[in-house]
Amino acid sequence: MRRLLLRWYRAHGRSLPWRQTRDPYAIWVSEIMLQQTQVKTVLPYYRRWLSQFPTLQQLAAADQQTVLKAWEGLGYYARARNLHRAARQLSAEGGEFPQRFETVLALPGIGRTTAGGILSAAFNQPVAILDGNVKRVLARLIALPQPPNRALNQLWALSERLVSQTHPRDFNQALMDLGATVCTRRPACLLCPWQNYCEAYNQNAQSELPMTESR
Ligand code: ADE
Repeated sequence: MRRLLLRWYRAHGRSLPWRQTRDPYAIWVSEIMLQQTQVKTVLPYYRRWLSQFPTLQQLAAADQQTVLKAWEGLGYYARARNLHRAARQLSAEGGEFPQRFETVLALPGIGRTTAGGILSAAFNQPVAILDGNVKRVLARLIALPQPPNRALNQLWALSERLVSQTHPRDFNQALMDLGATVCTRRPACLLCPWQNYCEAYNQNAQSELPMTESR
């Protein structure tokens, strides 16, 4: 399954600017912007942000007004405030972006999936992710009989079991792209590298899954 997904990604994955870098700061910025905002909207903000604040130190040195101004239009401004606060914290501690999962997770604004996204993309660490797109892919893969948010432990365990130990960076990016471009609300199962492994597809239940919260 991993090989099939990686092969699909090499042929059909999206070319996105944060995939052209290994700079943990740039990848961190992208992951924070992408938390609540679509790729298409993020692209121009991401480019502008990195030309305005090319390094963690330069972000840390900026005043809050300037930082919030650069975020203007993206919404959820707590993201910008947390990013700035974390940059100042890291800058005061020497300016290196941490590589230990627990240390990254402890930074303001970084939850489990953002930590996994950063560590896998920047350092090629085999850390699992579980964002909205990945929840949908995995829920369909196992025909999860409940809404994904009711089975988070199970879905995290599955993501951890699946993540490639040899190509975790590409694997996680591929999983996100599969969810964003193939395994969408109305999925294109005929294009899916996991078609033969997908319990939802085998039950012809892909349009009923994942289940939604009823209340
Ligand atoms: N959403 C969250 N992280 C992403 C990434 N690295 N690429 C595409 N979409 C994402």
